[in-house]
Amino acid sequence: MLSHGLIDVACDPTPTAPSPADAASAAFTLDLVTALAIRPHSISPKYFYDTQGSELFDRICELPEYYPTRTELAILSRRAGEIAHQMGPRAEIVEFGAGSLRKVRLLLDAMEQPARYLPIDISGEHLARSAAALQRDYHGLDVQPVVADYTQRLLLPAALPGAGRRVGFFPGSTIGNFGPQEALHFLQAAAQVLHGGALLLGADLIKDPAVLHAAYNDAQGVTAAFNLNLLARANRELGTDFVLEQFAHSAFYNAPQQRIEMHLVSRRRQQIALDGRLFELDEGETLHTENSYKFTIDGLCALALRAGFRPGPVWTDEDRLFCVHWLHAPGA
Ligand code: AVJ
Repeated sequence: MLSHGLIDVACDPTPTAPSPADAASAAFTLDLVTALAIRPHSISPKYFYDTQGSELFDRICELPEYYPTRTELAILSRRAGEIAHQMGPRAEIVEFGAGSLRKVRLLLDAMEQPARYLPIDISGEHLARSAAALQRDYHGLDVQPVVADYTQRLLLPAALPGAGRRVGFFPGSTIGNFGPQEALHFLQAAAQVLHGGALLLGADLIKDPAVLHAAYNDAQGVTAAFNLNLLARANRELGTDFVLEQFAHSAFYNAPQQRIEMHLVSRRRQQIALDGRLFELDEGETLHTENSYKFTIDGLCALALRAGFRPGPVWTDEDRLFCVHWLHAPGA
């Protein structure tokens, strides 16, 4: 950048306005300070997804133990015709937490004249790259990536003239990152913005805890690296000096709560300097980094109904590992 600040400031029409990157760092700092100040320590899993974290997540999706991605892809590919029929002609897809945009291809290939695709993700660089790759493969499609945190508010652009249904796409069991109350609120907001359209929702099902455990404790340690990336990211972006070797990855199925919990366990008593303050972690104390709730088909239908959707067809695999729901969002 520029070597002396004067010109830099003079060129900036609003020198006091923080850049988006500064605002994001400020939010991360605040949430990490809060996490370290309160007990038990916990922070939102959204902070996993910087560019490195999004790449690690893509590697998780390829792991032999991590069945959700390949199972959902198989369901979508097998049912693409039925799903496209539900969508109708000239539908537009809004994807929440879009990631690498792999799953939507199966839908686009089966749809009748898709009108537009709006992938929403907080990982801006990763989204831009994935959207450019998708656009190369789908020349005629209107692709409009939106860098946003869809857990904050759901604001969508106006419908296109002559467009068909607006279909929300929320695959991967990302809904499992929400607690029951948050999931209800998200679905209520989605039912509002999608009114007259529908939500295509993918969710992981309750199953043998040993299968769940393996999926979050892979032999290659990619999930551990993904979990630890939260601290690595803080070191990169906030200048903290977390020593990653002083933390252990822990993931387990909490059966009564029907969720996988991921934690970073402090291997010894240690101090962390952040934002001009010193925080202490005891030996064995944890930072709770993620919940991944598991569902039943009936439980999801009941939740969707409470949120204002009219549940439609449900598709699942032979082993009932994963399910995909078509949820009608009634019009005004
Ligand atoms: C993207 C939230 C669905 O919970 O399975 C994968 C994230 N965490 N391995 C999940 C995740 C650890 C994933 N979701």
